[in-house]
Amino acid sequence: MAHQSDLIAEDIAAYLKAQEEKSMLRFITCGSVDDGKSTLIGRLLWDSKLVFEDQLAALEVDSKKVGTQGDEIDYALLLDGLQAEREQGITIDVAYRFFSTDKRKFIVADTPGHEQYTRNMVTGASTAEVAIILIDARKGVLIQTRRHSFLTSLVGIRKVVLAINKMDLVDYSEDRYHAIVEGYKTFAKDLGFEEIFCIPISALKGDNIIEESERTPWYQGPTLMHHLEHVEITNNALNKPLRMRVQWVNRPNLDFRGFSGTIASGVVHPGDAGVVPSSGQVSTVARIVTMDGDLSEAVAGQSVTITLEDEIDISRGDMLCCTEQRPSYADQFEAHVVWMHEEECLPGRSYLLKAGSATAPATVTALKHKINVNTLQREPGKTLELNEVGICNISLTKPISFDPYQENRNTGNFILIDRFTNATVGAGMIDFPLRRATNIHWQSIDINKQSRAELNDQAPMVLWFTGLSGAGKSTIANLVEKKLHSLGKRTYLLDGDNVRHGLNRDLGFTDVDRVENIRRIAETAKLFVDAGMIVLTSFISPFKSERNLARELLEEGEFVEIFVNTPLEICEQRDPKGLYKKARAGELPNFTGIDSDYEPPENPEIMVEAGTKSAEEISEEIVAKIL
Ligand code: ADX
Repeated sequence: MAHQSDLIAEDIAAYLKAQEEKSMLRFITCGSVDDGKSTLIGRLLWDSKLVFEDQLAALEVDSKKVGTQGDEIDYALLLDGLQAEREQGITIDVAYRFFSTDKRKFIVADTPGHEQYTRNMVTGASTAEVAIILIDARKGVLIQTRRHSFLTSLVGIRKVVLAINKMDLVDYSEDRYHAIVEGYKTFAKDLGFEEIFCIPISALKGDNIIEESERTPWYQGPTLMHHLEHVEITNNALNKPLRMRVQWVNRPNLDFRGFSGTIASGVVHPGDAGVVPSSGQVSTVARIVTMDGDLSEAVAGQSVTITLEDEIDISRGDMLCCTEQRPSYADQFEAHVVWMHEEECLPGRSYLLKAGSATAPATVTALKHKINVNTLQREPGKTLELNEVGICNISLTKPISFDPYQENRNTGNFILIDRFTNATVGAGMIDFPLRRATNIHWQSIDINKQSRAELNDQAPMVLWFTGLSGAGKSTIANLVEKKLHSLGKRTYLLDGDNVRHGLNRDLGFTDVDRVENIRRIAETAKLFVDAGMIVLTSFISPFKSERNLARELLEEGEFVEIFVNTPLEICEQRDPKGLYKKARAGELPNFTGIDSDYEPPENPEIMVEAGTKSAEEISEEIVAKIL
């Protein structure tokens, strides 16, 4: 049974108090499939006697059935909670395990070491203070060791334990151990670790895990458990300036207005000065309210409701901060982004950024370069694929408060969310704010959209034609423009093929280029609308996201989406430019409908079905609808 069982039996209150006062260490174990990671964690749990009797019985049975250690107990099985995982012999996703000793409580994040699981490791490591990097003594520093070390450094972990495992298989060779340690330290010198604690172990045999091993007399240092129990936790959010993102404004009645949230870093007391960077307004903390009464102090990690002496503007997502060391407040920054989704990152596309309770539409405006996680080399690139890491400039539609991640892990991170599927597609760590655009202001112009529209005697709008190549977009758009023109309307037609000869001549047909193509067209269309024109756009515009972006740039009623819904077979039969034939022959890659996606609109303002009416009739109907 567990080591504290006596105390539990004798004095439950004393036991609980002792638990409460213990410090907590979060660590992550990184290793590849065969490095013995699960065995190590199993061993830590086992030897600290935190395995319960029913688990033990199951373990003995499982070890015989699916274990990899013959008749011996396979500690790795302790961790493989899911039946399916056990049977496949692999661990998937991040698993958090809790255990404690007399000295400390621990949460260990166990993540698979396989190459494609970078996202899991980043997820698991993001809250850890220490990383145990496992090395197989027979193999030494491998590509995955570099990857694990880079990601460990990227997520801001400053303390590393280099656990050189399987020493039993190299006859506990001191020379082998030192050669690996030296090699690793040379490689890791630029990764910014504060401490690299090296230790020879055998997770399987238990050497230097809990008990000092007699088989490594040349190693004088502490055991792994001793180190974990005593390693100083410096990266503590307590020592950072006060930050609290407001999760909700708590206003049950007119007499009470509190700001609820979890304190991300620092310490707060009634009487402390606080500032909200979004308005720059300063006030004094009046009360710290909790379910259990008011507090005289609250610290990082606590969820509280704070009331202020003055009525100041605060809403969800704002940050309450100390006045001395203020965070950045900006709408552009550089960040390290880890891509977490099968669908690649498309610079120019609008994602939703979430930093705690702060959210804002966000665009990757530039992918400066990628970092190869195996070689740590910079690489050029136009997109980020699943598990790739890139240095990106990100632009938001409104400013948020944040700190550089290396200064504050709790206020410098964010995730990116797909606006249609709500899937988390990326995770980021902010490097620094970009202030380039802060001295560009909106110039107020006396002649505005409305006055131009009145002079033109028309309601400016965009008729956004979308559909496959050969669907008939340009033919219909052309007829609609002619009719509008003859009615005295001021129009302009932006056509795919034509614009690609000028404004967008640098763009091809990859997804990234199509996103940028449509982003520019959307912005251009907006300018034409502002000029009081009726603008017709004829582009395949295959993606919902970018059509939605165009819609959002305009005012209610100004965007008319016209879906020219001609099935692929008909477009291909028509093949006016012979492009389908080429695409089928493999001579034209990324052709829409063949090997590049088209996402049809779900609720277009106007839908044109092919083959039912003539182009002439269709265009007449469109004109009748919009005027
Ligand atoms: S979009 O996808 O970015 O909106 P756009 O409408 O500008 O495309 O351009 C489409 C036109 O370019 C097509 O009508 C066709 O004439 C031509 N084209 C050349 N290559 C391709 C391709 N790979 N996919 C689609 N259209 C292509």
